Formats: sequence, C-alpha cells, structure tokens
Amino acid sequence: MTKVDVLLGLQWGDEGKGKIVDVLAPKYDVVARFQGGPNAGHTLEFDGKKHVLHQIPSGIFREKTKNIIGNGVVLDPIVLKREIEGVADKFGLNLYDNLFISKKAQLIIPTHRLLDQAYETAKGVNKIGSTLKGIGPTYQDKIGRQGLRVGDILSPNFKEKFEHLTQIHFSILKDHAIEYNWVELSEQFFTAVEFIKKFKLIESEYFINQELESGSTILAEGAQGSLLDIDFGSYPFVTSSNTVTAGACTGLGVAPKHIGQVYGIFKAYSTRVGSGPFPTELLDDEGERMRKEGNEFGSTTGRPRRCGWIDLPSLKYSIMINGVTQLLMMKADVLSIFPTIKICTHYKLENGESTTLLPYELVNEKITPVYTEMPGWQTNVKGIRKEEMPVALENYINFLEKELQVPITMVSTGPDRTQTIYR
Ligand code: GDP
Ligand code: IMO
Ligand code: MG
Repeated sequence: MTKVDVLLGLQWGDEGKGKIVDVLAPKYDVVARFQGGPNAGHTLEFDGKKHVLHQIPSGIFREKTKNIIGNGVVLDPIVLKREIEGVADKFGLNLYDNLFISKKAQLIIPTHRLLDQAYETAKGVNKIGSTLKGIGPTYQDKIGRQGLRVGDILSPNFKEKFEHLTQIHFSILKDHAIEYNWVELSEQFFTAVEFIKKFKLIESEYFINQELESGSTILAEGAQGSLLDIDFGSYPFVTSSNTVTAGACTGLGVAPKHIGQVYGIFKAYSTRVGSGPFPTELLDDEGERMRKEGNEFGSTTGRPRRCGWIDLPSLKYSIMINGVTQLLMMKADVLSIFPTIKICTHYKLENGESTTLLPYELVNEKITPVYTEMPGWQTNVKGIRKEEMPVALENYINFLEKELQVPITMVSTGPDRTQTIYR
C-alpha cells in the first residue's frame, strides 16, 4: 500500500500551500482537502495567470490529478458553485470528472454565515477577526450533532431538515441586529445545492483507502496553519478545526499508519491575519515594508496581513505536533530588501525567564522575542536557480535547518510555479 503525504502550514496560514500543492501535484494521483472551508484562500500562479482557490483542492490544474473534498471539510455550496464556474470561465476547466466531494462533509448554510457575524459582533474588542464564512458555527453544529451533511442533499426531505436547522438558528439570531434578505439567501443556497448534485458525491474514506490499496499516491492539502489549530493554536484566536497532521486522519478517514511524508511549509518571516497573539510582530516601518514587498494582503478577505520576523519557538512547536519530515521555505525573495535579517530564537517572559517553548499564556502575558541577527542577501533572488543562491541566503537556510532539525528541501523565490528551488 502507498501512503498519504500531508502538506500543511506551520504558522498562521497563508504560507503558500496553494502554490506548493500545485507544484507537487504532478507527482500525485490524488489531492485531498481534509479540513477548513471557504476561509482558506490558496493562490496559484502559472503561465502569467493568478488564481485563488477556496474549497477546490489545489491539484485541479493538473490534468491527471483527482481532487477530493474530504469529510473533515465544511462546504459552502454557494461558494463552491462560484468557484467551479470561475475556473470554467477563466481556464475552460470542466470538473465533473476530477472533483469528488465527500457525502460526510458538513454543509455551511446561509444562517451559519449570519451566526458567524452575530457571534463576532457580540465579542466586541475580543473579536477573532474571523473571515465570516460560517466556519465556526458550522463546526459547532457538527460537534453539537445537528449539522447537515452533503449527502443529505440527496434525501427527499432535505428541505425539511434545512428548515428545522434554520429555525434553531433564527431563534438565536433574533437577539442580534443582523440584517439579511432570507428569500434571496435561501434561493441562492438551493440553486447551488442543485448545481453540486451534478458532481461526484462519494464516500471518500472508501475511495481514498481503495486508491491506497491500488498504489495511488495521495497528497493531503492542509488549510489555515498549525498556530490556528483548535487544540494547539493561540486559543481562542484560532479557527474551528484541527489543522495539524492528525486532522488529515480524521478528515479523510486515513489511519495514522498510512501517513507518509509530512511537508511543513513556512514563510521566511511570519504573518498573521485577524486578531490574536503574534510575538514577533513588527508594528513599525520595517513591518510596513515587509507587507508591501510581500504583498501581504489576505487572499480571501483582502485585509492587510500583520508581518514580523521568523519565530523559531513556534515553528519548533508546530514541527513537533505535526511530525514534520521535510520543510519548505517560502518567499525568500521578499527578505531581499533587508540588510539585516532577524531570527527569534527564544522568548523572554514577564518574570524574566527565557524559554524556547511556546508558553501556555500567549494572550494575557507580554512575550518579548529575543533575536539573533544575520546579514541579508540584498539581491534579487526571484526565480534564481539553485547554483545562483547567494551565500547569505544559503547561510540563513542552514541556520534554520540546524535549529529546526528537519531538512529544508524546497525554497520558493516567487509566486509562480517555476520559481521553486529543490535542494
Ligand atoms: P496559502 O493560503 O498557504 O495557499 O497562501 P496564500 O495564497 O493565501 O498566500 C501566499 C501568497 O504568497 C500568494 O499571494 C502567493 O502567490 C504568494 N507566494 C507564494 N510563494 C511565494 C514566494 O516564494 N514569493 C513571493 N513573493 N510570493 C509567493
Ligand atoms: P489559508 O488556508 C490565514 C484566520 C482568520 C481569523 C481566524 C478564524 O488561506 O491559509 P475563521 O474564518 O476560520 O473563523 O477565522 O483564522 N484564518 C486564516 N488566516 N489563512 C487562512 O487560510 C485562514 N483561515 C482562517 O483570519 O483570524
Ligand atoms: Mg491563504
């Protein structure tokens, strides 16, 4: 039997997962999403075209790759319809044959999005900075055992089930000042539901295990990042799913013994979008330059991303939780503008102690990053070949490798598919 390789973000999301899944996809027969939903925005660039995927796996532009939306995903049919039509219009792609959707994936219905808004508003200054795509409320209903699943749309009494759940939601919404046009929202939803009935709705756990039996190669594509994981992220400023390797097991129905390589992907610096702790955040001109050079604006919401230096304690933590076997470093080109690169090697706590561990209390305690400095490469590295790697960049990579104790096998130097160095 073959194994399922997993690719996931080690920081707060937006590490460049979409780009790398697209780069790796020709090596894989199957690419599968296992958690998250339309809160994700995975950007791919090739042939001068840029495209952002939210729910469709990033293997979709490789002809021979089958793409699965697994049971751990929360799926918004309205967003999916728009996405499928988008790739059809822009690339002439027809996904009827190579998109497979788990019947056990949970459905995001329009009231989930309204509830997301309501809960977020009620949190006031403590808001999470949610993408407001309905992720939290949908996972709440899943765990609360009242959610709707994709397979339910095939049931003759789906409308009744839908109405039952919306009644529960309306009784909560009545206490919140959220405005909406229900006729329009429900019409949009049912049009999208009819549309997705034309695709392959499957029991993806059987499908994937049969693919493994027959020797297919499978890549599980993570969404968000390990520091947004519901259990291990900077709680409560997290998303509502397990974004870590273990999530691939529950989100696809793959036993732990079938997990192979774990690719951990990180930016050469750090970013975060939304609220929550970010020890190495730069609130000064340096952060502003990083944002500008890295074009750090959200792929899903367009919000400016907070920027800062690389953070080794948190990366080590993510590597540990995920069992990372290979590291992939992204956006090396963005740091070209800095004469000096800073690396946070440990934290200083309020009581004066220093630690290389990620503290439990990240929200209420001030954590001061302690930095090591290295000279920057200060030369354009976009799209360079391996032989052209400046010594200062090579030194930076070697330093990180030594600290993190996992080989960095790939370095990305630009958003395009081709701007990738294999080491
Ligand atoms: P994802 O959510 O992990 O797939 O990442 P996003 O797509 O949200 O954000 C990554 C952004 O960085 C996208 O705009 C990519 O096109 C871009 N990108 C990816 N790799 C590189 C790189 O090596 N250099 C630069 N400059 N941009 C990159
Ligand atoms: P990709 O897959 C970056 C953040 C939101 C917010 C928190 C909770 O593109 O890396 P949610 O909508 O899940 O309730 O938001 O998580 N967030 C992301 N940040 N990349 C993402 O996905 C994200 N998905 C959610 O900004 O802080
Ligand atoms: Mg993203």
